[in-house]
Amino acid sequence: MIDLDDVGALKRNDPQGMRERIAELPWQCRQAWEIVEGQRFPADYAQADSVVILGMGGSAIGGDLVRTLVRDLCPVPIFVNREYDLPRFVGQGTLVIASSYSGNTEETLAAFQEASRRGAKLLALTTDGKLAQMAENLLTFSYLAQPRAALGFSLIMLLSILTELGFVPDPRPDLEEAIEVVEGLGSKVREEVPTSQNPAKQLALLLQGKLPVIYGAQHLAPVARRWKGQFNENGKCFAFFEVLPELHHNTVEAFPYPAELEDTGLILLLTSRLYHPRNTLRFQVTEEMLDQYGIPHWSMEAQGRSPLSQVLSTIHFGDYVSLYLAALRGVNPSSVETITYLKERLAQI
Ligand code: F6R
Repeated sequence: MIDLDDVGALKRNDPQGMRERIAELPWQCRQAWEIVEGQRFPADYAQADSVVILGMGGSAIGGDLVRTLVRDLCPVPIFVNREYDLPRFVGQGTLVIASSYSGNTEETLAAFQEASRRGAKLLALTTDGKLAQMAENLLTFSYLAQPRAALGFSLIMLLSILTELGFVPDPRPDLEEAIEVVEGLGSKVREEVPTSQNPAKQLALLLQGKLPVIYGAQHLAPVARRWKGQFNENGKCFAFFEVLPELHHNTVEAFPYPAELEDTGLILLLTSRLYHPRNTLRFQVTEEMLDQYGIPHWSMEAQGRSPLSQVLSTIHFGDYVSLYLAALRGVNPSSVETITYLKERLAQI
């Protein structure tokens, strides 16, 4: 097992440099904003009556995050589509944005083609691939990384597109604050900071041999999903997420019977000062109940003034935890052998 304080060993376990990509999140956000700022879009795009974001995995999560972040600001509905096909409402009035790092993800391409057949207003966000060839209106970025490690691009480019089209007010003051908070947090959790002072290393150690279940609400619900995905893809371990208040209407019935979780489970609660007061109360009562039933849990309050800074900083923390999990498990955080196997296997059929 790798000693998390042996920085040389951490680097050897990470030959493609996932740790550097994670540390680059603030830089990615700035770059992403600049790529989109001042871009011209067809005039009728600003009149769209709905927005549908197409994507899978690491390229879809930016859609979930942006949808939740602009929920109180954007006058038209935003829908994230992780399917081959599209819901019936998608038509000429819909702005369809395909987000795919590689530009070759079959579900995203199929839905994009369908959107084109229906005469939707199309936009693509990619580095290359078939999507770049298919799309007339295209925003590209160039960044050598795993798609999941390019989240600063996929999230902030989407936010910037919505701003340029006038769907949301300029979020730059919040973005500047978010970048500052992320930089501050990064300096506390990066690999040079020893375990005794590094809460991300401490959580990774706590998670060893455990099954994490991440609970989030409102703007942190997609962050819980992001943590799950990063624990899966970087740490190569099983993880699940749940959303409050919904879990109070089903999951809690299992709390008094925690046999499966007592030894192996660890519930991670993502809390926020910005939650609806009733949700804050629900998190407090949840912790009381987990104590009462002997279910192991850990909690973290999101840092930052705005939802955007809370989202980005909590994501940054989870990304580092996933990096340390990979080290503890002796797996390469960048590899995607099984995802690639599946993509190739399906492409043959
Ligand atoms: C790999 C990753 C995956 C991909 C997904 C879709 O790092 O995060 O979840 O994002 O397989 O591929 P792209 O992003 O190329 O459309």
